[in-house]
Amino acid sequence: MKGLIIRELQDEDIEVLSRIEAASFSMPWSAEDFAALLQHDYCMYLVAEVDKAVAGCCGMTISCNEGSIDNVVVAEEFRGRGIAGELLRELIARGNARGVEAYTLEVRVGNGAAIHVYEKLGFISEGIRPGFYEKPVEDAMIMWRRKDGF
Ligand SMILES: CC(C)(COP(=O)(O)OP(=O)(O)OC[C@H]1O[C@@H](n2cnc3c(N)ncnc32)[C@H](O)[C@@H]1OP(=O)(O)O)[C@@H](O)C(=O)NCCC(=O)NCCS
Repeated sequence: MKGLIIRELQDEDIEVLSRIEAASFSMPWSAEDFAALLQHDYCMYLVAEVDKAVAGCCGMTISCNEGSIDNVVVAEEFRGRGIAGELLRELIARGNARGVEAYTLEVRVGNGAAIHVYEKLGFISEGIRPGFYEKPVEDAMIMWRRKDGF
């Protein structure tokens, strides 16, 4: 996509990312949650920038060659342009370079757009965690991407 840059999350992104979170999730991460991530080198967080505007982010915590992905979010006005896919592709490429061999995430079973993006990238459902989410209560689909399927 023209004008799209994927780069590491920086302090200056936190304010706008907190606003995107608040508009996108019923239990959003706060600015403090994001700030804490930057302290740990087992966390890898990326930001999508479109023509200098922060459009979304995604990230993961790395442990024992596994990447646990969270906070995949794109601001409403930027959705449907492939940005989430690009963010995740870059996250996986950078994870692979650091030796990550498998990636996992949870998603609301009713979140068709997110599930579609994850399946396109090779994630497969391996189970359901009943009632995992609150506000509203909903089951979580547990997805894994165990091999490089690009
Ligand atoms: C999920 C989300 C990150 C996707 O971001 P995005 O940049 O719009 O995603 P992309 O443009 O890469 O892809 C969206 C795909 O979903 C498809 N889609 C949209 N709504 C859909 C639905 N209800 N059911 C199935 N597929 C759907 C689109 O057609 C598109 O597929 P395509 O590329 O094959 O045409 C974004 O909608 C978002 O931030 N949602 C709120 C936060 C959220 O739910 N995050 C995920 C938490 S696990």
